[in-house]
Amino acid sequence: MASIGQKVDTAIQLLLQGKLVAIPTETVYGLAANALNEKAVLAIFETKQRPSFDPLIMHLSGIDAVEKYANWNDARLKKLATAFWPGPLTILLPKKEIVPDIVCSGLTQVALRVPNHPLTLQLLKALPFPLAAPSANPFGYISPTSAQHVNQQLGDKIPFILDGGECGVGLESTIVGVEGDELVLYRLGGLTVETIEALVGKISLRLNQSSNPLAPGQLKSHYAPRKPLFMGSFKENANNFPNKKMALIAFGKIEINNSHCSIYNLSEKADLNEAALNLFKLLRLADESDADVLLAEYLPKQGLGLAINDRLQRAAEK
Ligand code: TXA
Ligand code: MG
Repeated sequence: MASIGQKVDTAIQLLLQGKLVAIPTETVYGLAANALNEKAVLAIFETKQRPSFDPLIMHLSGIDAVEKYANWNDARLKKLATAFWPGPLTILLPKKEIVPDIVCSGLTQVALRVPNHPLTLQLLKALPFPLAAPSANPFGYISPTSAQHVNQQLGDKIPFILDGGECGVGLESTIVGVEGDELVLYRLGGLTVETIEALVGKISLRLNQSSNPLAPGQLKSHYAPRKPLFMGSFKENANNFPNKKMALIAFGKIEINNSHCSIYNLSEKADLNEAALNLFKLLRLADESDADVLLAEYLPKQGLGLAINDRLQRAAEK
């Protein structure tokens, strides 16, 4: 198993040697390597069993580092990065030569983000290179929001997990780019549509096209638990499984008394931030429980509710 610790120095030494290290961020844990070292980046793909057509986000120490790796092509993206970095925002920009093709899966744009976690910021500032890091889960499985989650699934494949506690946001970053003059959102995440639009105006949503060459990682079956998951009203869904053990991913006050159903409540007080924090953890617990099927009800279709519904929907579309 990997060793787990809080020593940034250990992470620095391993990353300098081209090894992989799992790192905490405010969104989810990442599986990091030197983004400028092709061999190290290849090891990320192998360890996650991630298809090579699915590009990686490059993590930077600060906004000043952007110009080394990409060209700013839109004032709105710069405004967003200035306002929300470090934070759960990833922007797509035309890449410079120095970024290896393997990081971007051969695309002309690179995904950049400054994560908001004190240990990882310290790490990024100490390293002479940026970190390529996808979420630290086997490809297609639920993203990890604690060092223990990473250890359970990738612990035997990596030397070290930098333990920064539980992730504060719990959902991956929101991915934004431009197409012509149009500002486009490719992945709903920890930064809400409303917050983005309040700063830079209208943004078009272009989610979930598994055939979309711009965001090939937006495959439908992402975030999937191993057990089947069904979305919709509990009352309607429960009737379909009269003899099964059910686990309900719920939100807010619920009054369900069904001896075949255990409840995993994302937030009893119906708080979307709390629900985001709990989503991946509870999905894992439900998946590991003795339930035969998982059921989930839609959350309010606003703010982080949109991103949470999106994750649940993808988990259901296995
Ligand atoms: O919050 C996050 O973004 C976390 C933490 C670790 O930073 N990372 C994360 O990485 O969620 P990953 O690899 O699980 O998801 C990155 C997404 C993928 O859907 C990928 O296709 C997309 O970003 N992406 C990366 N580079 C891209 C590029 N050059 N063009 C289009 N999409 C890109
Ligand atoms: Mg991922």
